[in-house]
Amino acid sequence: MTVNLTTSFAGLELKNPIIASASPLTATPELCLNLEKAGAAAIVVKSIFEKSIAHNAHSLSSNLSHGEESDYLDGYIAEQMVSEWRNTLIGIKKLCSIPIIASIAAQSPSAWTRYAKVATEAGADAIEMNLMNVGLCTRHTKYGVVEQQFLDMVDCVRSATSLPVGVKLAANITNPAALVDRLVARGIKGVVLFNRPYPVDIDIEKGEYCVNSNTTSSTFLARPLRWTGILSAEIPSVDYALSGGVQSGEDVIKAILAGASAVCICSTLYKNGIEHIETMLATIRDWQERHFEETIDQFKGRMNASKEAFADELLRAQYLHYTV
Ligand SMILES: Cc1cc2nc3c(=O)[nH]c(=O)nc-3n(C[C@H](O)[C@H](O)[C@H](O)COP(=O)(O)O)c2cc1C
Repeated sequence: MTVNLTTSFAGLELKNPIIASASPLTATPELCLNLEKAGAAAIVVKSIFEKSIAHNAHSLSSNLSHGEESDYLDGYIAEQMVSEWRNTLIGIKKLCSIPIIASIAAQSPSAWTRYAKVATEAGADAIEMNLMNVGLCTRHTKYGVVEQQFLDMVDCVRSATSLPVGVKLAANITNPAALVDRLVARGIKGVVLFNRPYPVDIDIEKGEYCVNSNTTSSTFLARPLRWTGILSAEIPSVDYALSGGVQSGEDVIKAILAGASAVCICSTLYKNGIEHIETMLATIRDWQERHFEETIDQFKGRMNASKEAFADELLRAQYLHYTV
């Protein structure tokens, strides 16, 4: 039997379910071409961050000038940085033939709109909105306000581009199903479960905050696997990509059984090199052959919460029968 690995995510046709996630590994045209040659089906380019652009522009300009002049320089330098990002996207599109997804992490409506327009002009095939709620909540924030902010951000981007738009969701949303339902109503085509915030740690000798290990392991898979299984049953009208903890071909198969159309990978590329993509694809092919699954669609979502027995597992929160 010849197995077929093609799938689709957020309106993009993919030759297989493996997408290289946004990170420094996807920051330049050459790195993206290498990922394409290694077998990646699509690439999410390292995000443009409004906050870091504003911060870098301000520190550069305050070294050079003061007062009003500094404000003017801030804007000028920030524009240069956006222009560099545009050139990177154009360069990646020139070199690569697989779909290229521009990742945007902004806060202000003007930045969401501007970056979405730039990505569209640069020829990106889709946009991924990097949505995080860390930093958006205080004890005075009313329930639902953060979700409404996400919806407003989506409206900004959707009105600035006709490209397919996906969202990479924060993992600590109170009610992911209600949010995804509203996102889909606003025209979102793909949902990435989940975003991974910067992993903070404390160096107890130095008394400083530091970065915990940047990379994940398969144990991180539990949360996105559960929510992919639940959401793909509850809201099947949108594509899901599972992100966080996918290390191997076996993990990709689990993601698809739970209902994902694709996976986004980063840590395993850091740990095992980009050649690991071929090993993962070989594992998926071998499993499909052994299980007589000719296509990805054939087993996608087979173990999601639409079946009562699997819903029991996925919706179970307590360790009911666990003994030492
Ligand atoms: C060094 C590094 C940089 C990252 N940069 C970005 C980024 O620019 N935008 C983004 O959305 N995610 C970024 N991420 C998160 C990854 O895209 C991915 O969501 C996360 O690592 C979980 O997937 P994994 O378990 O395969 O690593 C970064 C991760 C790492 C390790």
